[in-house]
Amino acid sequence: MHISIFGLGYVGTVSAACFAARGHQVVGVDVNRSKVDLLASGKAPIVEQDVEQLIAENVARKRLSATASTADAIAATDLSIVCVGTPSAPNGSIDTGALAAVCTEIGAALAGKSSRHTVVIRSTILPGTFRNVVVPALEESSGRRAGTDFAVATNPEFLREGTAVADFRNPPKTVVGADDAATADIVASLYEGLPGAVIRTTPEIAEVVKYVDNPWHALKVAFANEIGNICQAVGVDSHAVMDIFFHDTKLNISPAYLKPGFAFGGSCLPKDLRAITYLAQRLDLKIPVLQSINTSNMLQIERALDWILGLGKKDIAVLGVSFKAGTDDLRESPFIILVERLIGKGCRIRIFDHNIKLSMLTGANRDYINATIPHIASLMVDSAEAALADAGLVLITANVPEYVSALDRMTDHQHLLDFARVNAPQRLGARYHGINW
Ligand SMILES: NC(=O)c1ccc[n+]([C@@H]2O[C@H](COP(=O)([O-])OP(=O)(O)OC[C@H]3O[C@@H](n4cnc5c(N)ncnc54)[C@H](O)[C@@H]3O)[C@@H](O)[C@H]2O)c1
Repeated sequence: MHISIFGLGYVGTVSAACFAARGHQVVGVDVNRSKVDLLASGKAPIVEQDVEQLIAENVARKRLSATASTADAIAATDLSIVCVGTPSAPNGSIDTGALAAVCTEIGAALAGKSSRHTVVIRSTILPGTFRNVVVPALEESSGRRAGTDFAVATNPEFLREGTAVADFRNPPKTVVGADDAATADIVASLYEGLPGAVIRTTPEIAEVVKYVDNPWHALKVAFANEIGNICQAVGVDSHAVMDIFFHDTKLNISPAYLKPGFAFGGSCLPKDLRAITYLAQRLDLKIPVLQSINTSNMLQIERALDWILGLGKKDIAVLGVSFKAGTDDLRESPFIILVERLIGKGCRIRIFDHNIKLSMLTGANRDYINATIPHIASLMVDSAEAALADAGLVLITANVPEYVSALDRMTDHQHLLDFARVNAPQRLGARYHGINW
């Protein structure tokens, strides 16, 4: 393929070198004349392992060149990859000035081009930027329609500086955001033969994915550092601790607990979090990450409460109140906390939980109910149908077949708030609400 790469910074230079090394004909473009001259003479405008050598080899083979002219670059290529900077604005947002400018320049060059061209955004962009900045800039300056007259896609980049070439050759994943399959195919073909999944999705999802990865990595660093600080203070080797932590690929280093949904609860997570936070405070350690977990969890309950009260339906059916599916444990269940708050706001609640037979509850669980919602017995009914009768709103908290099948019998005035991403009846339409999807 003939490829033009806009922006010869860290991402653009690595991309130019690696795509040329894969056999493509590549031209690099930058507004910075000295970067263009460096690349054109076979030198790297950045310091990055293996890049200098790849650039020298591919410039010598005439597979890689550089220009300051957008028009020349667009005329000579079929596909452009935009790698300009999107630095922080003072308010934390991103400055899309360079992105809008380069899209306007590319659009102007596309106005005079008859063959089909594909524009791929590799810069990191906040959700909405593709639709509200990139596409309008390209369309306005070209006088053409995206999707019809030229193709446009996003392809966020996940390489790490320092190991960027090795990461390019062995990516953890490749993400292509496009509105049509043909455009996605063109972008995906750039990475043919490389390991890792190639994931085709919408431009919006591709935009968000990048902003999930980096905060997650940052959270891991901050979490590990706080654990390390606590370990050191109690005289325990933090690396020995984390080496054991890594062994758990079922719950620790895994997708477990990472699907958005509702607050955690139960007899362990809240209690153990409180204990480690207490320990850190006693040791005079600042642990804002660990400390804010509980605040975040309580805010998730507030979010549900505010939403429910805003809907204005006072008769509410709750399908499942244990802290998670498959148990009758009600201790610190976030659904019990939610029910309590709703009762306090004058809501009338009916609960069905297929695991909870009040007469059979014993020990800690029974004590917990007696201390928190002693009148739970009067709220509980013995079937999902009985809970749904007269309800204006149904809360489904677990993906339990008995609860899900009851949704088929919802009447036309009933709304559903889904905490468990169940397969809800399609006919609910706008009366279906997900807690955070
Ligand atoms: N650096 C990384 O490791 C990394 C990793 C993943 C994603 N990203 C994202 O990739 C994007 C680029 O990052 P970077 O670190 O390579 O940026 P950078 O600042 O190093 O390089 C950007 C380049 O774009 C050039 N440029 C600006 N306007 C231009 C125009 N109109 N035409 C042509 N060139 C123009 C600049 O002169 C500069 O050389 C950012 O959105 C960044 O968030 C960076």
